[in-house]
Amino acid sequence: MPVPQVAVIVGSNRRDSINRKLAQAFIKLGAGKFDAKIVRIDDLPMYNQDIEGNLPAEVVRYKDEIKLADGVLIVTPEHNRSAPTVLKNAIDWGARPFGTSVWPGKPGFITGTSPGAIGTALVQANLRTVMLGLGMTLLGGESYIQFKPNLVDDQGTISDETTKTFLQGFVDRFATLVAKLKA
Ligand SMILES: Cc1cc2nc3c(=O)[nH]c(=O)nc-3n(C[C@H](O)[C@H](O)[C@H](O)COP(=O)(O)O)c2cc1C
Repeated sequence: MPVPQVAVIVGSNRRDSINRKLAQAFIKLGAGKFDAKIVRIDDLPMYNQDIEGNLPAEVVRYKDEIKLADGVLIVTPEHNRSAPTVLKNAIDWGARPFGTSVWPGKPGFITGTSPGAIGTALVQANLRTVMLGLGMTLLGGESYIQFKPNLVDDQGTISDETTKTFLQGFVDRFATLVAKLKA
């Protein structure tokens, strides 16, 4: 069987995003277990029910990429203890128009990093409620990563062995979940 395809959503539109670096690390640790691609969300228009009848091309492309994926990984910052606007917008487009949601039954994992001591714990808790409500099948467990300078480089290499081993555990369990549900 071909390896599962994973769509990766980074909840930051910042050029030097530490969450994009963490996402690259996750992708690297999953090599050989799944193929992963970061799905663009920063070009999606602001959600507006008025344009549901004539969906912008960016929305169609984004939803197709999620639909085709066997699993979805969300790697996000915490903005004011909640989801960054760019991510919430993407989640809402994924769920609309009514009856066309891309989320039900999709295996997923939520993680994120922040320089703060609780490493995105509150946004992750909130997103678990949101994505379970939308019907995703989420991997259990909690991975809050406090970002320290140079923890992950631009190629997704993690400098700290403890963090690497911790994340590898989630990558392996996520790969197993996605492969099982694909089969
Ligand atoms: C609008 C805004 C709100 C933020 N709120 C939080 C927060 O609630 N918790 C936190 O740990 N960090 C917060 N931060 C700091 C972010 O963790 C930090 O900017 C981080 O680099 C964002 O991730 P990114 O580099 O992937 O964009 C906030 C940053 C911004 C710009």
